[in-house]
Amino acid sequence: MSERSLVLVKPDGVRRGLVGDVIARIERKGLKIVALELRTLDREVAETHYEEHRERPFFGSLVEFITGGPLVAMVVEGPRAVEAFRALAGATDPVASAPGTIRGDHALEIQENIVHGSDSAASAEREIKLFFPDLF
Ligand code: TYD
Ligand code: MG
Repeated sequence: MSERSLVLVKPDGVRRGLVGDVIARIERKGLKIVALELRTLDREVAETHYEEHRERPFFGSLVEFITGGPLVAMVVEGPRAVEAFRALAGATDPVASAPGTIRGDHALEIQENIVHGSDSAASAEREIKLFFPDLF
């Protein structure tokens, strides 16, 4: 059974030239990239993407950050793609992420943690519809 996940290389990752590293890890793992786009999010898309965090104290700053430059959005596909990519990404807090993961290898700040990956199949469906409505 194949599954899809939405992956973002966030503006910090693009700015730091880490797009190739993230893509290489995805491909090495065996996940297939089925959509990919460089884009800058407007506030409305960013707020919808992170709507589960709307009441959190970091929400405003997170939206500023994620709209602050171009990001790379992609859809990856494979067996248990959601869990597989979250394992590649590492824990949300990069200091706690295992070395060998994307966040564990490249980041120290929780907000600037390089990548996003959907956290469930239901989130993936919602997020893919938001970023790539033509895929459905
Ligand atoms: P969350 O969905 O909890 O993490 P993940 O990206 O691992 O699914 O949070 C979304 C993003 O919000 C997270 O990647 C970084 C940012 N964030 C903060 O800036 N401060 C925080 O305290 C938390 C929990 C997240
Ligand atoms: Mg999340």
